[in-house]
Amino acid sequence: MTDRAVLVTGASRGIGRAVAKAFAAGGDRVAIHHRDSADAAEELLAQLPGTGHVVVRADLTDPDAVRVMVDRAAELLGGLDVLVNNAGTYGDRDDPHPIFGTSYEEWQQRWRQVLETNLTGAGNVTWCAAQHMRERGGRIVNVSSRGAFRGEPEQPAYGASKAGLNALGQSLAVALAPFGITVATVAPGFVATDMTTEHLRGERGAAIRAQSPFDRVGQPEEIAAAVHWLASPQAEWASGTIVDLNGASYLRS
Ligand SMILES: NC(=O)c1ccc[n+]([C@@H]2O[C@H](COP(=O)([O-])OP(=O)(O)OC[C@H]3O[C@@H](n4cnc5c(N)ncnc54)[C@H](OP(=O)(O)O)[C@@H]3O)[C@@H](O)[C@H]2O)c1
Repeated sequence: MTDRAVLVTGASRGIGRAVAKAFAAGGDRVAIHHRDSADAAEELLAQLPGTGHVVVRADLTDPDAVRVMVDRAAELLGGLDVLVNNAGTYGDRDDPHPIFGTSYEEWQQRWRQVLETNLTGAGNVTWCAAQHMRERGGRIVNVSSRGAFRGEPEQPAYGASKAGLNALGQSLAVALAPFGITVATVAPGFVATDMTTEHLRGERGAAIRAQSPFDRVGQPEEIAAAVHWLASPQAEWASGTIVDLNGASYLRS
């Protein structure tokens, strides 16, 4: 059992929720971050094992709100030992933005929306959290995506945002190592969450499951287990890594 101060962004739902549960089950105190899902965040707070957990809120596209949120989490938890950059948006799944069929204005709006959350937002959270880890060391784990490698032809801003997050993690793994801070990344394929519910229904769902030779998609708990290990004291030598969690649905060289 450990007793660390852990900030998980986007912990109200899906993968982030499972990550928060994994850290709490291991004895850590968790700051459950959300944007709009206050009820879900409070409900999770009530269920987490252990004590000392808190809820914090910010829209990650607002840099000032991010700073207030991270400082508040550190204040409530007594510092920060672990940051999990999980919050993210796919953009509108039902309204993709392929390069042909999207107006120039719409194209720009989509790129702004997705990158401001998935890349700039995560970068800003990291800057703020690193200030709290500078003296005591820490662990940072980023939740990227298979799409960074496989491509996202219908949602190119999403793929680019996750490739950028991979590069951010690698740069900071080098920059932060002298401070005893590791940075690692997980790249999940399809996971059964709110982000994917609609797409996993019907024929399209069967095709998505068949992308993996296991004929299924991932579960949030499978991603959470890897994140939890990458944030463990034993995982220092994994700093800079990008771990594929996609059931052999996409094998990169
Ligand atoms: N599900 C998949 O198949 C899959 C695959 C690969 C990678 N991923 C990545 O895994 C992460 C979690 O995905 P998920 O499927 O669990 O997503 P989800 O169920 O849609 O939940 C997204 C979370 O991110 C938060 N969020 C979104 N935009 C935000 C913003 N602008 N500011 C602050 N918080 C924001 C949401 O907060 P509210 O609830 O308050 O809105 C929510 O907690 C994402 O980074 C995603 O790209 C997912």
